[in-house]
Amino acid sequence: MNRVKITGTGSFLPEKILTNSQLEKMVETSDEWITKRTGIKQRRIAADGEATSDLGFRASRQAVSAAGIDVQDIDLIICATITPDMVFPATACLIQDKLGIKEAAAFDVEAACTGFISALAAAEGMLLTGNYRNALVVASEILSRVTDWEDRSTCVLFGDGAGAAVLSPGTGESGILSTHLGASGAYSDLLYLPAGGSLNPASHETVDNRLHYMRMEGNKVFKIAVQKMAEGSHSSLEKAGLGIEDLKIVVPHQANLRIIKALAKKLDLDMEKIYVNIVKYGNMSAATTAVGLDEIIRKGLASEGDIIQLVAFGGGLTWGAATVRL
Ligand code: ACO
Repeated sequence: MNRVKITGTGSFLPEKILTNSQLEKMVETSDEWITKRTGIKQRRIAADGEATSDLGFRASRQAVSAAGIDVQDIDLIICATITPDMVFPATACLIQDKLGIKEAAAFDVEAACTGFISALAAAEGMLLTGNYRNALVVASEILSRVTDWEDRSTCVLFGDGAGAAVLSPGTGESGILSTHLGASGAYSDLLYLPAGGSLNPASHETVDNRLHYMRMEGNKVFKIAVQKMAEGSHSSLEKAGLGIEDLKIVVPHQANLRIIKALAKKLDLDMEKIYVNIVKYGNMSAATTAVGLDEIIRKGLASEGDIIQLVAFGGGLTWGAATVRL
């Protein structure tokens, strides 16, 4: 084995659509503001009773089917999420059970929007040891459950969804060529969910003060996001011995169309080479790059032999990039 190959991908988006016009009736906002400032027109919302593991399970089943392997051949499951079904057990364990896989190693990765790339890097490293045969990397989020629907500065941005990929050892040219991950805890107060952890355990007071919802200083995150995604992209390309011209398509995290355009400019990349789906789904945190990866493959925008890159940033702050030959 010399590379870890992505052998199958899948995604799942909940049926319910929440449009900007519907949001106009919920908070003081407008379709015009949301479209102009973010590029988002609509987002998906999970049904009542539907949990993160349910979305992850549906995306995983599709990825396993695309990989053409028996589900029992998976011996490692990593789920990236900031909206787990419960604080514990890991959502990866719940997905394992739903898939009916017996005793595969399973754990969660929490790196916010960079979660899928972080989980890919972890799975790649673990497969390269030779201790595991096939890994399932899932990114699943139900951000609508941690969104403050009274806060117009955040509630227009997020959506629910899941994506998954099966990774297996390969011997050819295809596979993960390089990854780059970084973080800065000094910026942890720019994007966070204050209560429900050991610092502010759930109490009547935390609920009354709406501390179980995401908080974000969007403006400050914006500037760092563009800079760190560009650095991550360059670093991953450099490690792979490639240039930007070698990329068939880039799947960036979809937090804001203006961020994506600023990134394209910084990378000196035509927008035609950047995959954009924010208009339909909003920001699905870790699931965004996973869904994007599945969509570029299913739509034929990239196929076997093409070099693609995933690049993201998110709460932590965290950032990362993965350069992959399909
Ligand atoms: N509708 C109408 N007006 C609004 C809305 C809204 N939904 N939201 C904010 N505004 C108003 C503000 O109150 C402000 O009004 P004021 O000038 O009278 O004070 C004005 O619009 C401008 O607000 P800004 O916050 O400066 O707007 P900005 O252009 O920065 O856009 C946004 C805000 C969309 C949040 C942007 O900053 C952004 O996308 N930031 C990055 C977000 C991000 O990438 N997060 C990380 C990933 S998420 C994760 O890791 C889970």
